[in-house]
Amino acid sequence: MTGEKLPQNRYSGGLLKPTAKNFSSMTEKRQILVTNALPYANAALHLGHVLEYTQTDVWVRFQRMRGHQCFYVSADDAHGTAIMLKADEKGISPEQHIADMRSIHEADFRDFHISVDNYHSTHSQENRDYAELIYNRLVENDHIAKREITQAFDEEKQLFLADRYIKGTCPKCKAEDQYGDNCEACGATYSPTDLINPVSVLSGTAPIEKQSTHYFFKLPEFTEFLKTWTRSGAVQDEVANKLGEWLESGLQEWDISRDAPYFGFEIPNAPKKFFYVWLDAPIGYMASFKNLCDQKGLDFDQYWGPDSSAELYHFIGKDIVNFHALFWPAMLTSANFRTPTKVCVHGFVTVNGKKMSKSRGTFINARCYLDHLNPDYLRYYYTSKLTASVEDIDLNLEDFIQKVNSDLVGKVVNIASRCAKFITKGNDGVLSSNIADKALWQQVSDAGEVIAEHYENREYSKAIREIMAQADAANEYIAAKEPWKLNKDANQHQQVQDICSLGINLFRLLLTYLKPVIPAMAADGEAFLNDQLTWNSNQKPLTGHKINNFKPLLQRVEKEKVDAMIEASKQEVVQAAQVALEGPLADEPIAEEITFDDFIKVDLRVARIIKAEAVEGADKLLALTLDLGGETRNVFSGIKSSYKAADLEGRLTVMVANLAPRKMRFGLSEGMVLAAGDKDGIYLLSPDSGAVPGQRIT
Ligand code: 2FM
Ligand code: ZN
Repeated sequence: MTGEKLPQNRYSGGLLKPTAKNFSSMTEKRQILVTNALPYANAALHLGHVLEYTQTDVWVRFQRMRGHQCFYVSADDAHGTAIMLKADEKGISPEQHIADMRSIHEADFRDFHISVDNYHSTHSQENRDYAELIYNRLVENDHIAKREITQAFDEEKQLFLADRYIKGTCPKCKAEDQYGDNCEACGATYSPTDLINPVSVLSGTAPIEKQSTHYFFKLPEFTEFLKTWTRSGAVQDEVANKLGEWLESGLQEWDISRDAPYFGFEIPNAPKKFFYVWLDAPIGYMASFKNLCDQKGLDFDQYWGPDSSAELYHFIGKDIVNFHALFWPAMLTSANFRTPTKVCVHGFVTVNGKKMSKSRGTFINARCYLDHLNPDYLRYYYTSKLTASVEDIDLNLEDFIQKVNSDLVGKVVNIASRCAKFITKGNDGVLSSNIADKALWQQVSDAGEVIAEHYENREYSKAIREIMAQADAANEYIAAKEPWKLNKDANQHQQVQDICSLGINLFRLLLTYLKPVIPAMAADGEAFLNDQLTWNSNQKPLTGHKINNFKPLLQRVEKEKVDAMIEASKQEVVQAAQVALEGPLADEPIAEEITFDDFIKVDLRVARIIKAEAVEGADKLLALTLDLGGETRNVFSGIKSSYKAADLEGRLTVMVANLAPRKMRFGLSEGMVLAAGDKDGIYLLSPDSGAVPGQRIT
């Protein structure tokens, strides 16, 4: 539209008109408590987590801008077998492990500008207290059953095995190497005792069957309550429909106990029995809030008591709906706490249309993103695609670059950068007292109402579309008025001031609407405007007001940085595989098909290990000197746990000879030797005898 002749000073309108309900007249101050799903303390956060935290944070920041009291709490989900095993593997205590993870997660939250009021842990005194309190109330209300069950047991590790720790042959289609609960080949579901030749993933031994007493929450008693609750508007309709199917097919009692050894809380009056991690995880929401109450002198019961008039919102992914929309409201009801106002469910993230993949470099950790790109870019992109549905969100990297550059830089920042210099140079930074086109200002101001309604309903993509439609109108106005031409005529000075002051005011309105989404850019914009933006900032323009010098508010997204992030993400996987040897690729599907031309690029050579020695300060690495038939290479390889250095000397192996050298903490690694394996064993590849160092493998 830019440059197009516009009829009688009229510019593009918004997309949608406000609904009949006068949304902004909701002046009453709400008390709101918001949570996101608590991340497990056993892995780094990735861009899937960031989607949820962005969705939550935008909503929270929006509510605060509207003047409501809105607390946002989170925590690490610190219990369970996986965390216990991870700590074991690292040779540290679970307490140390979860403390390390917590600080990593907190840094990711901070650097993505997730405005939590408190970040806590489920391994905390508050959580123990509430878990015990709730459990005791369930017992008093006769909502806990106790009975013997038979489970798979790993005699070597002395552990009962959850389904995912058992593998074997599918009883139905006979596919090998299937998990204990379902077959990925034929889709059959079964119990681990049905598997043919089951083995424990932890020790490789065949599990035995063993009996033990377990505690169960009598969920079926809440069927009628849940039928009503799930249809009360507490979840999206599509989620209620899914829950309806489960409710119709009959609920089962929920096993809430696990046997020692287990990292968690021991169940009162049940020695060596622990609360299952999913029992105390949502109670972690209460624990984190209680911890905040103690810091700030807030009243816990006002938010969690049975008569609470506050609102309680949980933002979660679609994979954990049963825990939040069945078990959790039922437990809260039995224990005489209030139930959530809404459980807001979102879909998963795909990257370039596919499941995030380690081998493609699209399983991107939050920190890897932050090392390369501005968090506001991703916050904006996700927001522009989020709706209130559970549909998956695709992070298409080309679209990401295009959208951020065209919308934020090209449309929004551009207004300020085109207008600011005329005000700061021409009028000492003071905005005109005249609004040049009142109708246009009013149009963009009025749009605040429908934008607010979209934010409130989590229809963020609609909010962004409306904001961008208003940005288009502002740009059309500036383009049509061409203040840079008028400025050449000294007689037009006041007109230039009026046009550009309106431009700055329109920019201010757009920034107000975008503030929940791009807080860092909004803060810089506020410094430029010399103004603090609240949602009410759209009620009155700034006139006769001094602004500051304009500094570029946002750089364009550079494709090179996105490419570098993908490359770094791939490298993280390679390094994890080589150095930690935790088998991170074990669960990965076979990598994307490559052509012969791709394959031939990898130069595999026979190499003789002429020297192998330990590396000081590295538990898992050996430094190998390899003879490639005349040329020697130094390679660090994470094979120390399976090989004695001296035994390797003289042995033939296979190496990737044309891998770009990688700088490691201990020196330069000039290639890679090929090995298979995981934490339990490593198998170096060797050619048959007779192969000669330097020979190419094809
Ligand atoms: O799925 C997960 O990542 C869980 N750690 C979420 C827990 S949410 C809440 F219940 F704590
Ligand atoms: Zn099968």
